[in-house]
Amino acid sequence: MNIAVFCSGSGTNLQAIIDAHKRGDIKADLKLVVSDVPACLALERAKKAGIKTLIVERKDFKSKEDFEAEIIKNLNKEKIDLIVLAGYMRLISTDFVNQYKNKILNIHPALLPSFKGTHGIKDAFEYGVKVTGPTVHFVTQDMDAGPIILQGAIKVTEDDTEESLAQAIHKEEHKLYPRAIQLFVEGKIKIEGRKVRII
Ligand code: GRF
Repeated sequence: MNIAVFCSGSGTNLQAIIDAHKRGDIKADLKLVVSDVPACLALERAKKAGIKTLIVERKDFKSKEDFEAEIIKNLNKEKIDLIVLAGYMRLISTDFVNQYKNKILNIHPALLPSFKGTHGIKDAFEYGVKVTGPTVHFVTQDMDAGPIILQGAIKVTEDDTEESLAQAIHKEEHKLYPRAIQLFVEGKIKIEGRKVRII
């Protein structure tokens, strides 16, 4: 199975995926890392690991359709079976999602369906939740709304700051995401309506 990881930032989840792959905990090919941000650290991590990279910047295309067409062309070329969004800061169009139906995963740093959007950690912390944590889910046309694959629970203590909580959530993400990817690779994830069954 061929995997492409999409990133826009620091790529700590990408690193966790690379490390899991090296350990043999993800039994698939990490074929391609796609980024819309040329200077991001994730690309450095990919290069260091010897993974092919693709930079596609939105500003270089007239429309979102053209921008995505360029990405899809490369995914087809690499025969990608699974797309893993790891801190990719762009919404994927409905057309794109439909072309890779049930083949795009995302990780969100809050327990969905609570605290959707780009500030999941901060929003949950400021709300005063006692438990939060990451969610791995399928990507559908609605943001942060696809069937949930795995979630990790992190207790919020009174001593926690937003930073300490973020650290704990990221640590959990780095365990959860490789596990979810390997479940997908093994064909153990079954979608039944809104629900996911791990078989
Ligand atoms: C993670 O917190 C993830 O939940 C969110 O974006 C962040 C990416 O971090 N979708 P990194 O680039 O993997 O370090």
